[in-house]
Amino acid sequence: MLSYLRLEEMASIPDNFIDDLIARVELDDLIGRYITLKKTGTRFMGVCPFHGDSNPSLSVTPDKGFLYCFGCQEGGDAITFVRKQENLDFVEAVQFIARLYGIPVPEAASDPHATRRRTLIDINDKSREFFIKVLKSKYGKPFIDYLKSRGFTKETVLAYRVGASFNSWDHLTKHLTKEGFKNQDMVDAGVAISGKDGKSIYDRFRGRLMIPILDTLERTLGFGGRAMGDDEPKYINSPESPIFQKSKVLFGLDLAKSACRDSGQLILMEGYTDVMQAWQAGVQNCCAVMGTALTPEHLPIIARFAGEVIMAFDGDEAGIRATTRSMMAFAGSDLNVKVLPLPSGSDPADIIRTEGAEKFRERAGDAIKGEAWLFRTYGEPVRNSSITDRIKAFEDVAPYLIAYSSHPIYDELQERAAIAFNLNLTALRTAMKNVAQGSRTIGRSEAGRTLEAVIKGGEEIEKVLFLSLIANPKHLPEVKEHIEPEDFDQPLHRRLARVFFQPGFALGTPEGLKRLREINEDEDLYSYVVRLILEHDEEALKGSEARYSEADLKFCLLHMIRRNYEAESKRIQSEIQGAMPDMQSGDTGRVNRAKELISKLGVARQELENDFREISYQLGGEKVSWEEEIHA
Ligand code: UTP
Ligand code: MN
Repeated sequence: MLSYLRLEEMASIPDNFIDDLIARVELDDLIGRYITLKKTGTRFMGVCPFHGDSNPSLSVTPDKGFLYCFGCQEGGDAITFVRKQENLDFVEAVQFIARLYGIPVPEAASDPHATRRRTLIDINDKSREFFIKVLKSKYGKPFIDYLKSRGFTKETVLAYRVGASFNSWDHLTKHLTKEGFKNQDMVDAGVAISGKDGKSIYDRFRGRLMIPILDTLERTLGFGGRAMGDDEPKYINSPESPIFQKSKVLFGLDLAKSACRDSGQLILMEGYTDVMQAWQAGVQNCCAVMGTALTPEHLPIIARFAGEVIMAFDGDEAGIRATTRSMMAFAGSDLNVKVLPLPSGSDPADIIRTEGAEKFRERAGDAIKGEAWLFRTYGEPVRNSSITDRIKAFEDVAPYLIAYSSHPIYDELQERAAIAFNLNLTALRTAMKNVAQGSRTIGRSEAGRTLEAVIKGGEEIEKVLFLSLIANPKHLPEVKEHIEPEDFDQPLHRRLARVFFQPGFALGTPEGLKRLREINEDEDLYSYVVRLILEHDEEALKGSEARYSEADLKFCLLHMIRRNYEAESKRIQSEIQGAMPDMQSGDTGRVNRAKELISKLGVARQELENDFREISYQLGGEKVSWEEEIHA
């Protein structure tokens, strides 16, 4: 496996160099930089960093240049180890080790992509050095003053390699031309922009404080150029390029990675300056997203250094939105995510400045679990609102739950969401189903109001069925076809159904109402019907004509059928349980009776399926699959 990978990836590095490198690297020294090794004879033992172990099962044999873990059975050489540990590709791992030991990597005769990337990185590296020179020159004075006024120390400015760009159209490009770079490469590297004539180029960054964005190997991928004062836009960033992709880069990871590894925690912020302020105050495990939310592509990068992420975004609308979107990136992942909500109007830098680093760390320690934050932020404001509002709010976070559908915590997440949004599980799951199918209709359509009924329980379902029957009297025949008076749970509803379902009974006519009175001496029932009719009329008067629509009728009908099926299937199943000894008895009569029960269950299911299909057909609207409904 290892040798195969090498053949594939060696393209850009001469083979004999790799052999040399492995021969020159003392494996115990290299690995000793990451874990504690104890010498036993000719080998060293340590706790393997690749699997959750606490026993020293990793064996390192420097003489032979290889390592092997008795726990996870991972083995290899220096390059394998660094690849895994730093999550690098083969060539990057070779370069990493070479750099670590000050061994120059020979120029490769090579992979055009790698060469291209190297050129673009070279240009950015050279630009970074140039910007630092500008900052240090007499032209840098206003920038230095600005940095000072914001409380940045020299150490921080040096650590982050902050520089400045001249307020000029060609200061940098001229310099890079002298260094031998081509116009097109400067444009592709993002530091220059093509002129209208298509030939000339000019500097992208002019008169800005230059904050370089480095990867973990300290290669310059791009820049954030901050305006001095209140110029707009506040930041000009490098454009997307083969080396700079916002969805994969985290600002400050180069300086944060070891603190992240030590603490197992990465604090994610929104702004460059937040990260720099935090670092300066001694909170050094912080990174920033690049003016966007976190994406799933960031996760493997984070996972290299930390198992837990604490999101400390600005305490404003935008920060809440970015936190939400970032939470979605974590959905379904095994990384542990927490949220540190900041007081409205402040960012991490503010908190560190006013409360101090210790207090900030305390806040980070009290960060709440990501999903709890999500449920609280979206659920709390609607807890006592209408069911429609609660479902709408829930639908915003539903994708997060859906991402965990094959995860052991799925049920628990649903239960917690149900509590947070004050919904029952049926409503919650229906909403999730709709979101998953890309039709967030529930919260906005009549179905949403019908769900209101579901939530209040069976009694409401039955009542809404009558109300929508009063509103849609033409569907009485279909309803009669699918349910019987005995299917209603409420005695009053059972009695009402007996009247409604009588042959020749016509709903929605004055005669119908008169008949109701005549044929039934039941005063309670009569007043109940009147109440229903008034309730219906009142809704109709409000002008909400869709209230108690056909869709509502359909929904209630399906719900009742499912309920009946479930009750019946339970009954049959327990009969089958009781008949199990018969099955084994060998007595033909008894075996047949048991078989009959099993087929009865099949028939009940079949009937249910037919009912669902028929009702969908008869009452129109969206097709409803009985299976989905049943498992909803
Ligand atoms: P902020 O406006 O909070 O900037 O945007 P900041 O980094 O905290 O800077 P200061 O403290 O006001 O100087 C947060 C992040 O959004 C991106 C940058 O990555 C910034 O760090 N952003 C913001 C842009 O890319 N462009 C902009 O115009 C503004
Ligand atoms: Mn900010």
